[in-house]
Amino acid sequence: MRTVCVLLAVVIFLSGLSCDKVGVTRYYRQGVAVTVSPLASEIGKEVLLSGGNAFDAAVAVGFALAVTYPPAGNLGGGGFAVVRHSSSGEISALDFRETAPIAASRNMFLDSTGEVIENLSTRGALAAGVPGTVAGLHALWKRYGTRPWQDLVTIAARLADTGFTVDPPLAEMFAEYDSSLSEFEETRSIFSPTGALPRQGEKLVQPDLARSLYAIAADGPAGFYAGPTADSIVACMTKHGGLITHADLGGYRPVWRQPLHFTFDSLDIYSMPPPSSGGVIVGQILKLIEPFDFSRMTSNSPEFIHLFCEAARLAFADRSEHLGDPDFFDVPSSLLNSGYLNERRRLISRDHAGNSADVQPGNPEKYESDATTHFSICDQAGNMVAITYTLNESFGSGLTVGGAGFLLNNEMDDFAIRPGHANLYGLIGDEANCVEAGKRMLSSMSPTLVLKDDQPFLILGSAGGSKIITTVAQTIINMTRFGMSPDAAAAAPRIHHQWLPDSLYLEENRFDEATIQRLTAYGHQVRERTPYGDLELIQIVPTGMMTGAADPRCGGSVAGCNAPIVN
Ligand code: DON
Repeated sequence: MRTVCVLLAVVIFLSGLSCDKVGVTRYYRQGVAVTVSPLASEIGKEVLLSGGNAFDAAVAVGFALAVTYPPAGNLGGGGFAVVRHSSSGEISALDFRETAPIAASRNMFLDSTGEVIENLSTRGALAAGVPGTVAGLHALWKRYGTRPWQDLVTIAARLADTGFTVDPPLAEMFAEYDSSLSEFEETRSIFSPTGALPRQGEKLVQPDLARSLYAIAADGPAGFYAGPTADSIVACMTKHGGLITHADLGGYRPVWRQPLHFTFDSLDIYSMPPPSSGGVIVGQILKLIEPFDFSRMTSNSPEFIHLFCEAARLAFADRSEHLGDPDFFDVPSSLLNSGYLNERRRLISRDHAGNSADVQPGNPEKYESDATTHFSICDQAGNMVAITYTLNESFGSGLTVGGAGFLLNNEMDDFAIRPGHANLYGLIGDEANCVEAGKRMLSSMSPTLVLKDDQPFLILGSAGGSKIITTVAQTIINMTRFGMSPDAAAAAPRIHHQWLPDSLYLEENRFDEATIQRLTAYGHQVRERTPYGDLELIQIVPTGMMTGAADPRCGGSVAGCNAPIVN
């Protein structure tokens, strides 16, 4: 009997090593990196294998994605990290969101009659906030890193220098954004020097980007915010009518913030506080539905979808009014207060869909971009890193900094550029999120850590604009209340509501007609959406073993550090 068991274990182990079967869970002992780019995941794994910790791996991955995943990996954007340092037990949040340039002003995207000027906040130089990524990754490394900065950044620089082979998902992104990538000569010259964008199997070499990365490797943030790279950014602004100056670049600072903490069932959840709305809104959704009895619901049942979307409706209504950069706006401290949420919960009917107020609705349906990217890394010591960063839309503003080889973000559109005007994701806002010099625009990015009994349990986050929030909240519920594995949770059909527009979104072709009819009978305006999100997730089991899942919609990968144990 014992021999049979051993043989069986060996067969399972070997089959796990040699194929990627659905339903097979691989557990890793030494660490794991999950990113949208298989090359970047491998780089994370190599750093871990060579003795680096999760923070070292995150720095290497953050820069590698700027090379291998140009739609969202970036030097010219910004983002957020939520991290756990295992030996101190400290959990921290790092804000490296872009800021509005000093010369930015409230009505900068409006014409003289107060109308929004089309595309001004989304295309070209004016759309760009002051980039935060380089300063952010450096701050993370400075506080927690153990390997030389230069070594970690040089990995990406070499990759840009020698080139890498474009994989099918990236080739698809290039094809989809062909016209956007053709608008500016500087962008054409790096992605299509011969006249055509890179196709699957072709090599992409980025010498200008390599130079910028070597400068960052040698000089740290000064290699980006000062010197030739900064000169190139300012020259690009001058040429294209943008606002970012040397003073903006020299003055950029990432901010360590208290992570947002709340409990759900017996779990401790840590996510991003303002200027991201992510943590607050994920928290509100989870806390609003926490007391409901799920025993007769499934993840796809109309009862659950109705409940989840009613909670999301209420939470997103708060987002539009109460959330903005806390350094500029007094964000109420009671948004996760149990008394407040008990009162809000009373607005949820189990039988009927609510009615969102009749305010100018956005139209997120027309925006299908998958431009943000999230990566999750864990090492054997229990250091946890969740980072979501972005250029906003795929390939950001479409404008590349000439001579420096990287795209600039179009994050200014995440401000409420006029009260009630819907941004790219259909989100509206007001005073809390108006444009002001030096202010950070409100985000939905939700890098999140979950601890169970004080021990690491989940690391997750996603792309998807406003849908990041519902993707993260839904995944936590799917794994903790509905018992899904990481793979099942990453693949699960997605649901979304964001108050306005007053629509319940279902991922297309994933829900049966009976479910759609039941939801319609509740009073929901049901709409189907093409697949969205890019969830990159790690689960840590009580033994300390780790397993991960990359969103099957996006072609990412899980790179674990030791021979996996398979079950
Ligand atoms: O910060 C935000 O909320 C947006 N700029 C995120 C954009 C995004 O997720 C686009 N990708 N899917």
